[in-house]
Amino acid sequence: MQALKGLILSGGKGTRLRPITHTSAKQLVPVANKPVLFYGIEAMAAAGIDQVGIIIAPETGAEIRTAAGDGSRFGVKLTYIVQDEPLGLAHAVLTAEPFLGDSSFVMYLGDNLLQGGIHELVTAFREHEPDALILLTPVADPENYGVAELRDGSVVRLVEKPPEPKTNLALVGVYMFTSGVHDAARAIEPSERGELEITDAIQRLVDNGLRVEAHVVKGWWKDTGRLEDMLAANRLVLDTIEASMQGELVESQVDGRVVVEAGARLERSTVRGPAIIGAGARLIDSYIGPYTAIGEGCLIQNAEVEHSILLAGSSVRDLAGRMESSLLGRNVKIGRDQHQPRAYRFLVGDNSEIGIL
Ligand code: TTP
Repeated sequence: MQALKGLILSGGKGTRLRPITHTSAKQLVPVANKPVLFYGIEAMAAAGIDQVGIIIAPETGAEIRTAAGDGSRFGVKLTYIVQDEPLGLAHAVLTAEPFLGDSSFVMYLGDNLLQGGIHELVTAFREHEPDALILLTPVADPENYGVAELRDGSVVRLVEKPPEPKTNLALVGVYMFTSGVHDAARAIEPSERGELEITDAIQRLVDNGLRVEAHVVKGWWKDTGRLEDMLAANRLVLDTIEASMQGELVESQVDGRVVVEAGARLERSTVRGPAIIGAGARLIDSYIGPYTAIGEGCLIQNAEVEHSILLAGSSVRDLAGRMESSLLGRNVKIGRDQHQPRAYRFLVGDNSEIGIL
Protein backbone atom coordinates (compact mmCIF):
# COMPACT_ATOMS: atom_id res chain seq x y z
CA MET A 1 0.00 0.00 0.00
CA GLN A 2 1.20 3.51 -0.85
CA ALA A 3 2.54 5.55 2.06
CA LEU A 4 0.05 7.87 3.71
CA LYS A 5 0.83 11.56 3.51
CA GLY A 6 -0.08 14.31 5.93
CA LEU A 7 -1.65 17.69 5.26
CA ILE A 8 -1.76 20.37 7.97
CA LEU A 9 -3.84 23.46 7.32
CA SER A 10 -2.03 26.47 8.69
CA GLY A 11 -3.38 29.28 6.52
CA GLY A 12 -6.74 30.96 7.12
CA LYS A 13 -7.73 34.40 8.38
CA GLY A 14 -7.89 33.85 12.12
CA THR A 15 -10.44 36.66 12.56
CA ARG A 16 -11.67 35.24 15.85
CA LEU A 17 -8.24 35.59 17.45
CA ARG A 18 -7.57 39.19 16.56
CA PRO A 19 -5.53 41.18 17.42
CA ILE A 20 -3.00 38.34 17.89
CA THR A 21 -3.57 37.34 14.25
CA HIS A 22 -2.98 40.87 12.92
CA THR A 23 0.73 40.28 13.34
CA SER A 24 1.17 36.55 13.74
CA ALA A 25 -0.23 33.16 12.76
CA LYS A 26 -2.70 31.73 15.25
CA GLN A 27 -1.15 28.30 14.73
CA LEU A 28 2.02 29.63 16.38
CA VAL A 29 0.31 30.75 19.58
CA PRO A 30 1.88 28.57 22.25
CA VAL A 31 -0.07 26.09 24.33
CA ALA A 32 2.04 25.19 27.39
CA ASN A 33 4.84 27.14 25.68
CA LYS A 34 4.76 25.10 22.44
CA PRO A 35 3.11 26.36 19.23
CA VAL A 36 -0.25 24.68 18.61
CA LEU A 37 0.96 23.67 15.15
CA PHE A 38 3.78 21.57 16.58
CA TYR A 39 1.31 19.24 18.33
CA GLY A 40 -0.16 18.39 14.92
CA ILE A 41 3.24 17.78 13.35
CA GLU A 42 4.24 15.58 16.28
CA ALA A 43 0.99 13.60 15.96
CA MET A 44 1.85 12.92 12.31
CA ALA A 45 5.37 11.80 13.22
CA ALA A 46 4.06 9.54 16.01
CA ALA A 47 1.69 7.87 13.52
CA GLY A 48 4.61 7.14 11.20
CA ILE A 49 3.71 9.74 8.56
CA ASP A 50 6.89 11.35 7.30
CA GLN A 51 5.76 13.33 4.24
CA VAL A 52 3.78 16.29 5.56
CA GLY A 53 2.49 19.24 3.54
CA ILE A 54 1.70 22.47 5.36
CA ILE A 55 -0.80 24.89 3.84
CA ILE A 56 0.32 28.46 4.58
CA ALA A 57 -1.10 31.89 3.83
CA PRO A 58 1.01 34.51 2.01
CA GLU A 59 0.93 36.85 5.06
CA THR A 60 1.96 34.42 7.80
CA GLY A 61 3.70 31.70 5.79
CA ALA A 62 7.25 32.97 6.32
CA GLU A 63 6.83 32.96 10.08
CA ILE A 64 5.53 29.39 10.00
CA ARG A 65 8.40 28.25 7.78
CA THR A 66 10.91 29.80 10.18
CA ALA A 67 9.27 28.16 13.19
CA ALA A 68 8.82 24.63 11.82
CA GLY A 69 11.77 24.52 9.37
CA ASP A 70 12.29 21.47 7.20
CA GLY A 71 10.69 19.22 9.81
CA SER A 72 13.85 17.26 10.61
CA ARG A 73 13.61 18.02 14.30
CA PHE A 74 10.17 16.36 14.32
CA GLY A 75 11.39 13.44 12.21
CA VAL A 76 9.25 14.40 9.18
CA LYS A 77 9.84 16.14 5.86
CA LEU A 78 7.78 19.31 5.62
CA THR A 79 6.66 20.74 2.27
CA TYR A 80 5.15 24.24 2.35
CA ILE A 81 2.20 24.93 0.05
CA VAL A 82 1.00 28.51 -0.35
CA GLN A 83 -2.76 29.03 -0.58
CA ASP A 84 -3.18 32.48 -2.13
CA GLU A 85 -6.53 33.10 -0.46
CA PRO A 86 -8.30 31.33 2.40
CA LEU A 87 -11.14 30.00 0.27
CA GLY A 88 -12.03 27.08 2.50
CA LEU A 89 -10.78 23.73 3.74
CA ALA A 90 -11.74 21.92 0.52
CA HIS A 91 -9.96 24.65 -1.45
CA ALA A 92 -6.87 23.98 0.67
CA VAL A 93 -7.10 20.29 -0.29
CA LEU A 94 -7.24 21.21 -3.98
CA THR A 95 -4.29 23.57 -3.54
CA ALA A 96 -2.33 20.65 -2.11
CA GLU A 97 -3.27 18.21 -4.89
CA PRO A 98 0.12 18.41 -6.67
CA PHE A 99 1.81 17.47 -3.37
CA LEU A 100 -0.71 14.76 -2.43
CA GLY A 101 -0.94 13.13 -5.87
CA ASP A 102 -2.96 9.93 -5.63
CA SER A 103 -1.90 9.19 -2.04
CA SER A 104 -4.36 8.77 0.79
CA PHE A 105 -3.76 11.36 3.45
CA VAL A 106 -4.52 12.59 6.96
CA MET A 107 -5.73 16.19 7.07
CA TYR A 108 -5.20 18.04 10.35
CA LEU A 109 -6.36 21.59 11.09
CA GLY A 110 -3.28 23.43 12.30
CA ASP A 111 -5.07 25.15 15.18
CA ASN A 112 -6.53 21.92 16.57
CA LEU A 113 -5.35 19.68 19.38
CA LEU A 114 -6.37 16.05 19.68
CA GLN A 115 -5.51 14.15 22.83
CA GLY A 116 -3.97 10.78 22.14
CA GLY A 117 -2.86 11.66 18.62
CA ILE A 118 -3.93 9.95 15.41
CA HIS A 119 -2.23 6.57 15.54
CA GLU A 120 -5.39 4.58 16.28
CA LEU A 121 -7.20 6.34 13.50
CA VAL A 122 -4.56 5.66 10.93
CA THR A 123 -4.69 1.97 11.91
CA ALA A 124 -8.50 1.90 11.51
CA PHE A 125 -8.22 3.62 8.12
CA ARG A 126 -5.66 1.07 6.94
CA GLU A 127 -7.72 -1.88 8.21
CA HIS A 128 -11.19 -0.87 7.06
CA GLU A 129 -10.13 0.93 3.87
CA PRO A 130 -13.06 3.38 3.73
CA ASP A 131 -13.04 6.20 1.16
CA ALA A 132 -12.91 8.71 4.00
CA LEU A 133 -12.82 8.60 7.76
CA ILE A 134 -14.01 11.44 9.93
CA LEU A 135 -13.80 12.02 13.66
CA LEU A 136 -16.71 13.11 15.79
CA THR A 137 -17.16 14.28 19.33
CA PRO A 138 -20.35 14.99 21.29
CA VAL A 139 -20.73 18.73 22.00
CA ALA A 140 -23.25 20.81 23.94
CA ASP A 141 -23.66 23.36 21.12
CA PRO A 142 -23.70 21.41 17.82
CA GLU A 143 -25.24 24.39 16.00
CA ASN A 144 -21.75 25.93 16.00
CA TYR A 145 -20.07 22.99 14.24
CA GLY A 146 -20.26 20.69 11.26
CA VAL A 147 -22.70 18.00 12.44
CA ALA A 148 -22.94 14.36 11.29
CA GLU A 149 -25.89 11.99 11.02
CA LEU A 150 -24.92 8.31 11.09
CA ARG A 151 -26.33 4.93 10.16
CA ASP A 152 -24.44 1.79 11.28
CA GLY A 153 -21.21 3.73 11.86
CA SER A 154 -21.27 5.31 8.41
CA VAL A 155 -22.08 8.91 7.62
CA VAL A 156 -25.35 9.61 5.80
CA ARG A 157 -25.45 13.38 6.13
CA LEU A 158 -23.18 16.25 7.13
CA VAL A 159 -24.47 19.74 7.76
CA GLU A 160 -22.36 22.83 8.49
CA LYS A 161 -23.63 24.77 11.52
CA PRO A 162 -27.29 23.55 11.33
CA PRO A 163 -29.78 25.83 13.16
CA GLU A 164 -31.63 22.68 14.32
CA PRO A 165 -29.02 19.92 14.64
CA LYS A 166 -30.27 16.32 14.38
CA THR A 167 -27.40 14.96 16.50
CA ASN A 168 -24.83 16.38 18.93
CA LEU A 169 -21.92 14.83 17.01
CA ALA A 170 -19.57 17.57 15.85
CA LEU A 171 -16.80 17.11 13.31
CA VAL A 172 -13.33 17.20 14.81
CA GLY A 173 -10.61 18.88 12.74
CA VAL A 174 -8.84 15.67 11.72
CA TYR A 175 -9.90 13.73 8.62
CA MET A 176 -8.58 10.87 6.49
CA PHE A 177 -9.15 10.73 2.77
CA THR A 178 -8.34 8.68 -0.29
CA SER A 179 -7.52 10.65 -3.43
CA GLY A 180 -11.22 10.55 -4.43
CA VAL A 181 -11.71 13.66 -2.29
CA HIS A 182 -10.08 15.82 -4.99
CA ASP A 183 -12.86 15.15 -7.50
CA ALA A 184 -15.44 15.75 -4.77
CA ALA A 185 -13.80 19.09 -3.88
CA ARG A 186 -13.77 20.08 -7.55
CA ALA A 187 -17.46 19.26 -7.91
CA ILE A 188 -18.80 21.48 -5.13
CA GLU A 189 -19.76 25.16 -5.18
CA PRO A 190 -18.72 27.78 -2.63
CA SER A 191 -21.04 28.06 0.39
CA GLU A 192 -22.88 31.20 1.46
CA ARG A 193 -19.75 32.42 3.24
CA GLY A 194 -17.85 32.00 -0.03
CA GLU A 195 -15.75 28.98 1.01
CA LEU A 196 -15.36 25.51 -0.45
CA GLU A 197 -16.51 23.56 2.59
CA ILE A 198 -14.93 20.23 3.46
CA THR A 199 -18.33 19.09 4.81
CA ASP A 200 -19.80 19.61 1.31
CA ALA A 201 -16.96 17.64 -0.28
CA ILE A 202 -17.51 14.77 2.19
CA GLN A 203 -21.27 14.92 1.57
CA ARG A 204 -20.48 14.60 -2.14
CA LEU A 205 -18.52 11.40 -1.40
CA VAL A 206 -21.56 10.04 0.48
CA ASP A 207 -23.93 11.04 -2.34
CA ASN A 208 -21.70 9.26 -4.85
CA GLY A 209 -22.13 6.05 -2.85
CA LEU A 210 -18.63 6.08 -1.35
CA ARG A 211 -18.07 4.87 2.20
CA VAL A 212 -17.39 7.53 4.82
CA GLU A 213 -16.67 5.95 8.18
CA ALA A 214 -17.06 7.89 11.43
CA HIS A 215 -15.25 7.41 14.73
CA VAL A 216 -16.20 9.08 17.98
CA VAL A 217 -13.00 10.30 19.68
CA LYS A 218 -12.29 9.02 23.18
CA GLY A 219 -10.12 11.79 24.56
CA TRP A 220 -10.55 15.54 24.39
CA TRP A 221 -10.34 17.64 21.28
CA LYS A 222 -9.86 21.40 21.11
CA ASP A 223 -10.14 23.88 18.29
CA THR A 224 -8.09 26.86 19.51
CA GLY A 225 -9.69 29.42 17.19
CA ARG A 226 -11.01 31.63 20.02
CA LEU A 227 -9.46 33.00 23.22
CA GLU A 228 -11.50 30.82 25.59
CA ASP A 229 -10.61 27.70 23.58
CA MET A 230 -6.95 28.63 23.59
CA LEU A 231 -7.04 28.96 27.39
CA ALA A 232 -8.93 25.65 27.63
CA ALA A 233 -6.32 23.92 25.47
CA ASN A 234 -3.60 25.40 27.66
CA ARG A 235 -5.37 23.97 30.74
CA LEU A 236 -5.74 20.53 29.19
CA VAL A 237 -2.09 20.32 28.16
CA LEU A 238 -0.76 21.79 31.43
CA ASP A 239 -2.76 19.10 33.23
CA THR A 240 -0.46 16.53 31.62
CA ILE A 241 2.95 18.10 32.33
CA GLU A 242 5.51 16.74 34.74
CA ALA A 243 7.36 19.01 37.13
CA SER A 244 10.89 20.01 36.20
CA MET A 245 13.21 22.67 37.57
CA GLN A 246 15.96 24.14 35.41
CA GLY A 247 15.78 27.69 36.63
CA GLU A 248 16.88 29.45 39.78
CA LEU A 249 14.80 29.96 42.92
CA VAL A 250 15.63 32.80 45.28
CA GLU A 251 13.42 32.90 48.39
CA SER A 252 10.69 31.45 46.20
CA GLN A 253 8.52 28.37 46.13
CA VAL A 254 6.78 26.21 43.57
CA ASP A 255 3.79 24.05 44.49
CA GLY A 256 2.44 21.20 42.41
CA ARG A 257 3.39 20.47 38.83
CA VAL A 258 5.49 23.37 37.67
CA VAL A 259 8.00 23.49 34.83
CA VAL A 260 10.67 26.15 35.19
CA GLU A 261 12.78 26.32 32.05
CA ALA A 262 16.49 27.04 31.82
CA GLY A 263 17.64 30.52 32.78
CA ALA A 264 14.33 31.49 34.43
CA ARG A 265 14.73 33.21 37.80
CA LEU A 266 12.16 33.44 40.59
CA GLU A 267 12.75 36.00 43.34
CA ARG A 268 10.44 36.15 46.37
CA SER A 269 7.72 34.58 44.23
CA THR A 270 5.29 31.68 44.39
CA VAL A 271 4.15 29.53 41.48
CA ARG A 272 1.22 27.19 41.98
CA GLY A 273 0.94 24.55 39.25
CA PRO A 274 0.10 23.33 36.82
CA ALA A 275 2.12 26.11 35.23
CA ILE A 276 5.12 26.65 33.01
CA ILE A 277 7.69 29.43 33.28
CA GLY A 278 9.61 29.95 30.04
CA ALA A 279 13.35 30.14 29.51
CA GLY A 280 14.92 33.33 30.81
CA ALA A 281 11.69 34.63 32.37
CA ARG A 282 11.92 36.61 35.62
CA LEU A 283 9.37 36.60 38.41
CA ILE A 284 9.93 39.17 41.14
CA ASP A 285 7.68 39.54 44.20
CA SER A 286 4.92 37.84 42.26
CA TYR A 287 2.37 35.04 42.35
CA ILE A 288 1.65 32.79 39.35
CA GLY A 289 -1.52 30.75 39.72
CA PRO A 290 -2.64 27.49 38.11
CA TYR A 291 -3.01 27.05 34.34
CA THR A 292 -0.59 29.78 33.40
CA ALA A 293 2.05 29.62 30.69
CA ILE A 294 4.65 32.38 30.92
CA GLY A 295 6.65 32.71 27.70
CA GLU A 296 10.35 33.06 27.17
CA GLY A 297 11.97 36.20 28.55
CA CYS A 298 8.80 37.56 30.24
CA LEU A 299 9.00 39.73 33.35
CA ILE A 300 6.38 39.58 36.10
CA GLN A 301 7.07 41.99 38.91
CA ASN A 302 4.91 42.75 41.90
CA ALA A 303 1.88 41.21 40.23
CA GLU A 304 -0.41 38.16 40.25
CA VAL A 305 -1.18 36.22 37.09
CA GLU A 306 -3.45 33.19 36.77
CA HIS A 307 -5.07 31.09 34.01
CA SER A 308 -3.32 33.03 31.26
CA ILE A 309 -0.94 32.71 28.34
CA LEU A 310 1.88 35.25 27.91
CA LEU A 311 3.91 35.19 24.72
CA ALA A 312 7.63 35.84 24.69
CA GLY A 313 9.04 39.12 25.93
CA SER A 314 5.93 40.46 27.68
CA SER A 315 5.93 42.15 31.07
CA VAL A 316 3.34 42.69 33.79
CA ARG A 317 4.28 45.03 36.63
CA ASP A 318 2.81 46.56 39.77
CA LEU A 319 -0.81 45.51 39.30
CA ALA A 320 -3.19 46.07 42.20
CA GLY A 321 -5.47 43.19 41.18
CA ARG A 322 -4.87 39.72 39.79
CA MET A 323 -4.62 39.33 36.03
CA GLU A 324 -6.54 36.27 34.83
CA SER A 325 -7.94 34.53 31.73
CA SER A 326 -5.75 36.69 29.52
CA LEU A 327 -3.72 36.19 26.38
CA LEU A 328 -0.86 38.63 25.84
CA GLY A 329 0.95 38.78 22.51
CA ARG A 330 4.69 39.26 22.16
CA ASN A 331 6.47 42.11 23.91
CA VAL A 332 3.28 43.47 25.49
CA LYS A 333 3.90 45.78 28.45
CA ILE A 334 1.31 46.14 31.19
CA GLY A 335 2.23 48.26 34.16
CA ARG A 336 1.06 50.71 36.72
CA ASP A 337 2.51 54.17 36.60
CA GLN A 338 2.92 56.16 39.80
CA HIS A 339 3.20 59.55 38.07
CA GLN A 340 0.49 62.22 38.20
CA PRO A 341 -2.04 62.58 36.74
CA ARG A 342 -3.13 59.07 37.78
CA ALA A 343 -4.88 57.77 34.72
CA TYR A 344 -5.16 54.76 32.44
CA ARG A 345 -2.78 55.07 29.50
CA PHE A 346 -3.09 52.69 26.57
CA LEU A 347 -1.32 52.04 23.31
CA VAL A 348 -3.21 49.06 21.87
CA GLY A 349 -3.71 47.71 18.36
CA ASP A 350 -6.94 47.14 16.46
CA ASN A 351 -9.45 44.67 17.92
CA SER A 352 -7.76 44.52 21.32
CA GLU A 353 -9.86 43.84 24.40
CA ILE A 354 -9.13 45.29 27.81
CA GLY A 355 -11.17 44.53 30.94
CA ILE A 356 -10.69 46.80 33.93
CA LEU A 357 -11.48 45.96 37.56
P1 TTP B 1 -10.81 28.19 10.62
O1 TTP B 1 -10.45 28.41 12.06
O2 TTP B 1 -12.10 27.56 10.36
O3 TTP B 1 -10.73 29.53 9.77
P2 TTP B 1 -9.82 30.81 9.95
O4 TTP B 1 -8.40 30.45 10.24
O5 TTP B 1 -10.01 31.64 8.72
O6 TTP B 1 -10.32 31.54 11.28
P3 TTP B 1 -11.55 32.54 11.59
O7 TTP B 1 -12.79 31.73 11.41
O8 TTP B 1 -11.31 32.95 13.04
O9 TTP B 1 -11.41 33.71 10.67
O10 TTP B 1 -9.69 27.28 9.95
C1 TTP B 1 -9.26 26.06 10.51
C2 TTP B 1 -7.80 25.82 10.16
O11 TTP B 1 -7.62 25.71 8.76
C3 TTP B 1 -6.88 26.93 10.62
O12 TTP B 1 -5.64 26.36 11.02
C4 TTP B 1 -6.69 27.76 9.37
C5 TTP B 1 -6.77 26.73 8.26
N1 TTP B 1 -7.33 27.21 6.99
C6 TTP B 1 -6.56 27.17 5.83
O13 TTP B 1 -5.39 26.77 5.87
N2 TTP B 1 -7.11 27.59 4.65
C7 TTP B 1 -8.41 28.05 4.56
O14 TTP B 1 -8.86 28.41 3.46
C8 TTP B 1 -9.19 28.09 5.78
C9 TTP B 1 -10.61 28.58 5.76
C10 TTP B 1 -8.61 27.67 6.96
